[in-house]
Amino acid sequence: EKGGWSSFMVKEITEQPEAVAKTLLGRAVDGEVHLQELEAIGADALKDVERIVIVGAGTANYSGLLAKYAIEAWTRIPVEVELSHEFRYRDPILTPNTLVVSISQSGETMDTLMAVKYASENGARTLSICNTQGATIPRESDAVVYTHAGPEVAVASTKAFVAQVVALYLLGLHLATVRGSMSAAAIADVVEDLQQLPEQMETVLKQHETITQLAGWMADTRSVLFLGRHVGFPVALEGALKLKEIAYIHAEGFAAGELKHGPIALIEPGVPVFVVVPSPRDPDSLHKKVVSNIQEIRARGARVLVIAEQGDAAVLPYADVVIPVPLASKFMEPLLAVIPLQIFALELASAKGLDVDQPRNLAKSVTVE
Ligand code: F6R
Repeated sequence: EKGGWSSFMVKEITEQPEAVAKTLLGRAVDGEVHLQELEAIGADALKDVERIVIVGAGTANYSGLLAKYAIEAWTRIPVEVELSHEFRYRDPILTPNTLVVSISQSGETMDTLMAVKYASENGARTLSICNTQGATIPRESDAVVYTHAGPEVAVASTKAFVAQVVALYLLGLHLATVRGSMSAAAIADVVEDLQQLPEQMETVLKQHETITQLAGWMADTRSVLFLGRHVGFPVALEGALKLKEIAYIHAEGFAAGELKHGPIALIEPGVPVFVVVPSPRDPDSLHKKVVSNIQEIRARGARVLVIAEQGDAAVLPYADVVIPVPLASKFMEPLLAVIPLQIFALELASAKGLDVDQPRNLAKSVTVE
């Protein structure tokens, strides 16, 4: 079933444009977003939602962390993101106007299932974002929005992650529509951005060979750091998780603004640091701040590997390697920036001769607590 690919993971990374296109299909049409699946909750109930709590584990948790930025911006509904295994042990505050959104590729993760059951039993409404038709978590939820990434076989999640983020974006746009928190024109703009993603992802995938070489040079690396800011922060976390999982390398993701509050002490000559740089067109000037973080770590001898927008000249003097991604809007950038990090983990693990599809100690679906 690998169809000529050397691993399921490389196949699934390559299938990401299709995973996004299929998840959008029939849901984002003519500049509008309609998720019929949400009728099971009802338009009135959706209008009354006062708070969204997203629960998931591992990569699913990171897709929630990422989508939080967009859903809050578009709906102005407060969004919390919580690890599903922490959720029910702290007596969370739940009301009928709390929408608990669970995210799970397999739909069978015990920790996430228990969080959904807890949320239902305590009066919240529950929505599942799931990639596996008919799985247990969607069956236990009031409504389900399926991601259509296709079966994901490799233990490390890749295409399911991007499809989860897209599904959460659609949820945000649907809520913005029923609540009137965004103009029709603004929604149509985001729909257009989403529809451009598959092609932009193809452009990023073309850099596979360059990243393979980079990974090959780094086969002896003991530790890698990842920095990002705003939507780049969850991407940094995800890049680090991929590397831990399949290449067994110590890796940590940080919010770039946190550097001087501790992590900068880890920077010593030769330490590889991936930095996800926001677009220089960013009106909040986060770009400038991240570039100054790059200068700080570079001055301490870090080996700086930058993921930046095509044509971003400001990073060039300080980067050892630049991996360019196409121009995209703020909330789409992270879905492009994550791809080089997935490829890097895959190729570093391959360079070490490891089985990328079945890393040690891990199962594709964690059905025990
Ligand atoms: C990461 C990974 C895990 C899963 C997590 C949740 O690559 O595979 O972190 O994301 O175990 O699994 P699901 O989404 O099936 O609930």
